[in-house]
Amino acid sequence: MFFREIDRDIKLSLSIPQYAEELFQLTNNNRDFLKQWLPWLDNVRESSDTREFIELQLLKFQQGKALPVTIFYQERIAGVLGYLIDRANNIGYIGYWLGQEYNGKGIMTTSVRELIEIGYMYYALDRIEIRCAVENTRSRAIPERLGFKNEGTIRHAAKVDDRYQDHVVYGLLKSDS
Ligand SMILES: CC(C)(COP(=O)(O)OP(=O)(O)OC[C@H]1O[C@@H](n2cnc3c(N)ncnc32)[C@H](O)[C@@H]1OP(=O)(O)O)[C@@H](O)C(=O)NCCC(=O)NCCS
Repeated sequence: MFFREIDRDIKLSLSIPQYAEELFQLTNNNRDFLKQWLPWLDNVRESSDTREFIELQLLKFQQGKALPVTIFYQERIAGVLGYLIDRANNIGYIGYWLGQEYNGKGIMTTSVRELIEIGYMYYALDRIEIRCAVENTRSRAIPERLGFKNEGTIRHAAKVDDRYQDHVVYGLLKSDS
């Protein structure tokens, strides 16, 4: 597969089914860490679940409605990020996660910065949005570092681990840069 090399350690690649096994292992090893913030962990029980998810994302990619990206750190899969795209309004919604052992190195901030560039260049995005649980300070720090505007809080935006989360909505407009 082709890589987009950001620096010596970090590379991005379109997510492809061949990554499913390694990505599933990372997911499985980080189940408790990720479960605090992400709602889908119980749906991922074996590598075929990860493979099916990637295949679904690639169908959306083909339609211009998603860009699923795998992050490699020192040649190992460290996490994922990507866009869901609202084509009619040129909005890209970014989501992301990293294995716990890859936290604290700037990998996600660096990757999101690159994804923003890709969004403007290849998808003609006008607005990029990131939603984070109010208590998810590590996640919130990413849009804050990258100059997104805090546009307010929406209540009970997601049900995760049997609790409703309030989300902060962060927005970045092309005209902001
Ligand atoms: C959210 C998540 C991706 C954040 O990971 P992270 O490692 O804190 O984020 P980054 O990779 O951008 O790294 C930032 C950290 O690296 C440090 N850092 C080192 N080099 C850096 C660089 N070049 N640029 C930015 N930060 C750098 C920062 O100081 C910061 O560390 P600190 O929090 O101790 O101050 C991760 O915690 C995660 O996957 N959580 C679970 C899933 C989740 O919450 N997803 C988001 C749902 S909205």
